[in-house]
Amino acid sequence: MKKIGIMTTGGDCSGLNTVIQRIYRGATLRGWHVIGILDGTDGLCTTPPRVIEFDNETLPIECARMAGSFLHNGHAQALNFETAAETGRLNDFNKQLRKSLNELKLDAIILIGGNGSISLAWRNREIYSGLQLICIPKTIDMDIPLTDKTIGFNTAVQQLTSFCDQLMLTARSHHRWFVVQTMGRECGQLALNAGIAIGATAILIPEIKFNVDSMIAHIKNAPRDYGIILVSEGISLRGHSGKPADIISRKLTASGIVNRTAFPEHTQRVGDTTAADRILAARFADCALNAIANNETYVMTAVNNCECKTVSLADFFAAGYVSADPNIPDLQTSDAYVSPDDPLLDIATDMGIYIGETK
Ligand code: F6P
Repeated sequence: MKKIGIMTTGGDCSGLNTVIQRIYRGATLRGWHVIGILDGTDGLCTTPPRVIEFDNETLPIECARMAGSFLHNGHAQALNFETAAETGRLNDFNKQLRKSLNELKLDAIILIGGNGSISLAWRNREIYSGLQLICIPKTIDMDIPLTDKTIGFNTAVQQLTSFCDQLMLTARSHHRWFVVQTMGRECGQLALNAGIAIGATAILIPEIKFNVDSMIAHIKNAPRDYGIILVSEGISLRGHSGKPADIISRKLTASGIVNRTAFPEHTQRVGDTTAADRILAARFADCALNAIANNETYVMTAVNNCECKTVSLADFFAAGYVSADPNIPDLQTSDAYVSPDDPLLDIATDMGIYIGETK
């Protein structure tokens, strides 16, 4: 019988509980024992480590769609790989994690994490030697290389779409514009996908160079006098500081375009998990359990061309920062980011959306 630990690290998103529930059920059917590690690596920093047992009562299928993580994602102030390294405590931190993992006598650990957590797990991989490390990619930013899909992205696009759908109605009533700032860090996937879904008038993302004057001309020539300008949080405007949506809003006001700003913020992370994310969660959980059965380690589950299989963490790490975007020479982007050849850019342009100076 194998003993498996699961933990959720980094920011929460919808779909984490679906993965946890599917892993618990799938592992139980295989005759394995599953425990949950609380608060990510934070739960391994105490003696004894903070863990929970699951059963069908604590993890019913109808709760598996709920956002957040039943295992929690850690306190913001807790020591982690990054802060431990910054304060010269990485060795002690790693020793503590190793000690806790030994104590738990795990055969395998499933880490459900984002780009940062998975990269850090690989960089500090000696902690996991002697047990199988299987990662499952989750993030609303969709910035993880070597996989076409990540848990939580689809729900985040849906949340943002619903938020903007509502705003569109009040925008129309008052003949004015909303500048909506999306999450996504340096990756524009969330803004681009939601922008197409709602029929935004403009979408500004970090990967594509844009010109504010051209965007203003585009808005003034638009066939309607209301709409939504989606601004990804990762864009920067030379010579300006502050929230990107506020900067763009001020520029619109200065040119006579009546507008308001709106910030959906963390609501993008907490929607009722969409069917697509639940299905993805079920596929990733199954793939992770098969990887354990096949004695794989240091791998991440991935979906590419509709096929779900594992990729090695070494390949994931190497692919992290490969292709520099020609539009932004200072920024090294991973293959997960919006590339200048992304067909969605042409589709957006065909829809009459200003997407930047793409060509
Ligand atoms: O990486 C997920 C994400 O939601 C980003 O899109 C956003 O920039 C960040 O996390 C917000 O972090 P916090 O929850 O610490 O405010």
